Amino acid sequence: MSQARILPYDEHAIAEAARLIAAGRPVAMPTETVYGLAADATRGDAVAAIYAAKGRPSFNPLIVHVLDLAAADAIADLPAAARKLAEAFWPGPLTLVAPLNPGAPIAALATAGLPTVALRSPAHPAMRDLLQALGRPLAAPSANASGTISPTRAQHVARSLGTAIDLIVDAGPTAVGLESTIVSVSDGGLNLLRPGPITAEQLTDITGLSVSTDTSDTITAPGQLAQHYAPSKPVRLDATEARPDEWLIGFGAIAGNASLSASGDTAEAAARLFDLLHQADATAAPRIAVAPVPDTGLGVAINDRLRRAAA
Ligand code: TXA
Ligand code: MG
Repeated sequence: MSQARILPYDEHAIAEAARLIAAGRPVAMPTETVYGLAADATRGDAVAAIYAAKGRPSFNPLIVHVLDLAAADAIADLPAAARKLAEAFWPGPLTLVAPLNPGAPIAALATAGLPTVALRSPAHPAMRDLLQALGRPLAAPSANASGTISPTRAQHVARSLGTAIDLIVDAGPTAVGLESTIVSVSDGGLNLLRPGPITAEQLTDITGLSVSTDTSDTITAPGQLAQHYAPSKPVRLDATEARPDEWLIGFGAIAGNASLSASGDTAEAAARLFDLLHQADATAAPRIAVAPVPDTGLGVAINDRLRRAAA
């Protein structure tokens, strides 16, 4: 296949994206977290095309993107706590896992046949324009080949999936840079399946519920596979200086070859994390080292991704 077209985000790009998706083809779209590979969530053939492009094991369920809470209500049976979270954090980087309504028109392949569904209302105007244009939910995992680093720029998508898809809509680097927080909500409470931009403290503040972190269940959270975010080279964590064969990703006082955040700001570090892992992967150095990042605020999600990159 030829190389994907890259169109800057505008009305024409959204019209092209909508046309391709209506034809059952996946399109790479910017979101505020990472670029996603979007397809019609109601069509099994369209969802299958996502798995095919990513080379993803077909038992991994995908996140279904919706415009708002009303659209989510048509798909899932949202417990009261989930509604509160949606009202507080949507549109935004929070994914809610809740029971799928038996009659919902979601392709079984999108949920990998699970009785639950992962829902998110994205904040990025490009993804929202596309949802509005199509008037239907979009399944969208991160737009990278399975097991590789998530893309925060159109060029990352082009390198990873450029020959597997038709179109990449380019809106520049993503603002958040880390995938959404995933929380499973039941009447019993909240279970954090993937740490992310919305912290456990924020989830508790809104719901008054404590948050468990039982990520050991690989049946309900197969995306937790340890090697999910791996660069192609060995990664050493908590490095205070570079060894001779290493390219060092710095943080705070540790400058490195490039820094996640010279001022030690974890939000800036999150936005730059995957970009620097891509950069490090592309250098001649055979190994990557990463300076310590504090395990507070967004640092929890950053360290989660770094541990996976190093696994
Ligand atoms: O920020 C994001 O969430 C990005 C952008 C594109 O929206 N999307 C993303 O999707 O990271 P993906 O497919 O790479 O991650 C999906 C995660 C996986 O860990 C998957 O296992 C989990 O969501 N997931 C999906 N449905 C689930 C379900 N029913 N139960 C538990 N986990 C689920
Ligand atoms: Mg992913």
